[in-house]
Amino acid sequence: MKAARDWHKSFFMNSFYNPASRTAVEKAPAEALFVLRQLKLPKGAALLDLCCGPGRHAVEFAKKGLAVTGYDFSGEYLEEAAARARKKKVVLRLLRGDMRRLPFSGEFDAVVNLFTSFGYFLKFSDDLKTLKGVARALKPGGLFLLDLVHGDFVRKHFRPRTWDEMEEYYHLEDSTAGPDGITSAWTRIPKKGGKVLRRVFFTRLYTRQRLAKALTAAGLEPLKFRGGFGGQPLSPQKNRLIALAKKPG
Ligand SMILES: C[S@@+](CC[C@H](N)C(=O)[O-])C[C@H]1O[C@@H](n2cnc3c(N)ncnc32)[C@H](O)[C@@H]1O
Repeated sequence: MKAARDWHKSFFMNSFYNPASRTAVEKAPAEALFVLRQLKLPKGAALLDLCCGPGRHAVEFAKKGLAVTGYDFSGEYLEEAAARARKKKVVLRLLRGDMRRLPFSGEFDAVVNLFTSFGYFLKFSDDLKTLKGVARALKPGGLFLLDLVHGDFVRKHFRPRTWDEMEEYYHLEDSTAGPDGITSAWTRIPKKGGKVLRRVFFTRLYTRQRLAKALTAAGLEPLKFRGGFGGQPLSPQKNRLIALAKKPG
């Protein structure tokens, strides 16, 4: 089983998956609050929500008075982010593009990337390209907060096959673990007939050490690591790896 080079193009579409589930949207305000406590930005500061998706965190940041840019590849999710901003009566600047080609230079006080929206590329050099783009996008002294699934946790709890019953379909996940990460296939089987959908994707697994090395290689200085949005210490029992890094200067 192998993921296509640009698997994200057919995965992140409403007909297959949308990250703004009801539970995820409910969690967003508390997660955004934790992020803001780490970043300590003044009102009006410029924040880039990299891979903002449907904007569930971006609107929370904007509600707190930040000048928020959301950047994502999925046009459908950006439309949803725009609708969410209108509903919440906040302003978002929304841009469509690939995270490997960030068009920003010295523009942001902080960049965030949330809900494992990084580590998707089969080549590590593409992850590094993304991190270098983040470093370029930041003002000197700017901060980068990255929230990923924790590689140590995933390896420890690895299961090659899992089933879930959702409201409208059965969800089957088949995974293989390699030295760099996990390749998974999600199969969605509708309960009331209809097309069975299957998508294969790749997640590069980052441990604290591996992420610190990648951030440093991109010119960012790792400052601290946490194991969850409650500020828990990082451990193999925690499924989040939240890193805070700084652009020197
Ligand atoms: C798991 S979702 C998380 C979205 C959002 N951060 C959230 O928490 O709801 C990952 C996001 O990354 C975006 N994405 C995937 N590959 C991308 C790429 N190469 N460039 C830009 N965005 C990408 C997807 O469109 C999707 O919105």
